[in-house]
Amino acid sequence: MQEQTILGHPKGLFILFFTEMWERFSFYGMRAMLVLYLTRATSETFNPGMGWTSAEALSLYGTYGMMVYFMGIFGGIAADKWLGQKKAVIVGGVLIILGQFALAIDSLTMFYSGLTLLVCGVGLLKPNISTMVGGLYKKGDAKRDAGFTLFYIGINIGALAAPFIIGTVGETIDWHLGFSLAGFGMILGQVVFVFGGKHLKHVGNLLKHSETESHLATQPLSKVEKDRVIVLLLSFLIVIVFWAAYEQAGGLMSLYARDSVDRFVFGYEIPTSWFQSLHAFYVVLIGAPMAWLWLKWGKMGRESSAIFKMAAGMIIMCISFLALMGAVYDASVNMLGKAPIYWLLFSYFLHVVAELSISPVALSFITKLAPVKYASLMMGAYFAITGLGNKAAGMLGEYAQEAGEMAAFSIIAVACLLVGILLFFLVKKLKELSHGAEDLV
Ligand code: PHE
Repeated sequence: MQEQTILGHPKGLFILFFTEMWERFSFYGMRAMLVLYLTRATSETFNPGMGWTSAEALSLYGTYGMMVYFMGIFGGIAADKWLGQKKAVIVGGVLIILGQFALAIDSLTMFYSGLTLLVCGVGLLKPNISTMVGGLYKKGDAKRDAGFTLFYIGINIGALAAPFIIGTVGETIDWHLGFSLAGFGMILGQVVFVFGGKHLKHVGNLLKHSETESHLATQPLSKVEKDRVIVLLLSFLIVIVFWAAYEQAGGLMSLYARDSVDRFVFGYEIPTSWFQSLHAFYVVLIGAPMAWLWLKWGKMGRESSAIFKMAAGMIIMCISFLALMGAVYDASVNMLGKAPIYWLLFSYFLHVVAELSISPVALSFITKLAPVKYASLMMGAYFAITGLGNKAAGMLGEYAQEAGEMAAFSIIAVACLLVGILLFFLVKKLKELSHGAEDLV
C-alpha cells in the first residue's frame, strides 16, 4: 500500500511535529518562568513567588536542566525493554501534564513533585519521539535528514511562542495560571499524538511485538554494529563541547546582554529576556534554507556526511565566539563600557547556523547508525550528553564570574576550533567505521 504523504513526507511526521511542538511549548514556557517565579519575593501582594535567592534559583535551574535530559537514558532503556517508543511517548506525555498541573498548585511538596514528574516525563518522551521520526523513513531514504529538519522547526515554533505566551501570563497575571497553560499545551500535544496514531502504526512498537524483526532483539551485536556504536559515542563526546558553548545563551550571554550591551534600537531598549527567543526565531527563519543549502552542497559532489557537517558546525561556533570576543573588546574601549548590539545578534545567528549543522543532523545520524535493539538507548544517551553539556555550560559561566568574559569566551572559541579541526581529520576514518551507514543519507 502506498503511504500517504504531505510535502513528500509521511503523514506521521506531522503528527510527531505537532506533538513535539506542544511538548516544547510546555517545556520552554515553564522554563521561562522558573527562575523568575523562584526569585520573586513571597511578600509581594501581587503574584508572589517563592522568595529564593538568585544563586539558589540558578542552581535548581541548572540541576533541573541537567536532569530532564539525563533522564533520557532511562527513557530510552524503558522504551527498548518494556514499552516501545510509542507507549513511552504516551506515558511521558501524561507525566508531563501531571507535572505541570502539580506546579500550578501552590505548595512546596507539589512544586518538587511537579519537577520530578517533569524530569521523568521529558526523559520518556523527548528521546523516544525523536527516534520515531527516524522510524518513519526506510534505510537509505534521502528524505530522512530533511524530515528531521522539519521536526526541528516544529520544536522551535513551540520554543519561540512559549516565553511570549506562557511567560507573559505567568509573570503579569499569575504564575500558577502560567504552569496550567503549560499543562494545557501538553494536553493538546497528547491529543494530536493519540488521534494521529493511525499514521504511526508501523513505528515505535516494542521490538518483540513486531514479528518481522523479532530475531533482532535476541541477536548479539555484529562487528559492523559495534563499529557504528563507536562512531556514535565519539560524536557524542564532541557534542558535549557544542552544547556547553551553545547553552551560554541562557546564562553568561544573557547576563552580558543585560550589563554590557547597548540594547537601544531606534530609541527603544530591547528587554534582555527577548534574547532568549532569538535562537528559536532564527531556527524557524533559516531551518529550511539551511537544509536546502546542505542538500545542494552534497549534490554538487562535495563532502556532506554528518561528521563533516558537525565539523563545519564547530568551526562556525568558534567564529560566533570570536564575535563575542569582539563585543567584549568594543565594550572595553567604549566610554560607557557598552558593546554595540550587532555583535550579539550576529553571534546568535551563527549559533543557529552551527546548531542546524549539528543538532538535527545528529538526531538523524543516530537513527541511521544505532543497532535496532538499542535505538532508543542510543538516542537517550545523546540527550544525556546534552544534559552534561548544559551542566558544563553553567560551570563555564561561573568561571567567567571570576576570570571575566574574555577568558571564558576565548576558551570556548579555542575548544570549538580544536574539536572542529579534529573532526575534519577524522571524517574519512569515521566514515569507514560507519560501514556505509552514512551513505544511506
Ligand atoms: N532546541 C532543542 C530542543 O529543545 C535543544 C535540544 C537539542 C535539547 C538536543 C536537547 C537535545 O529540542
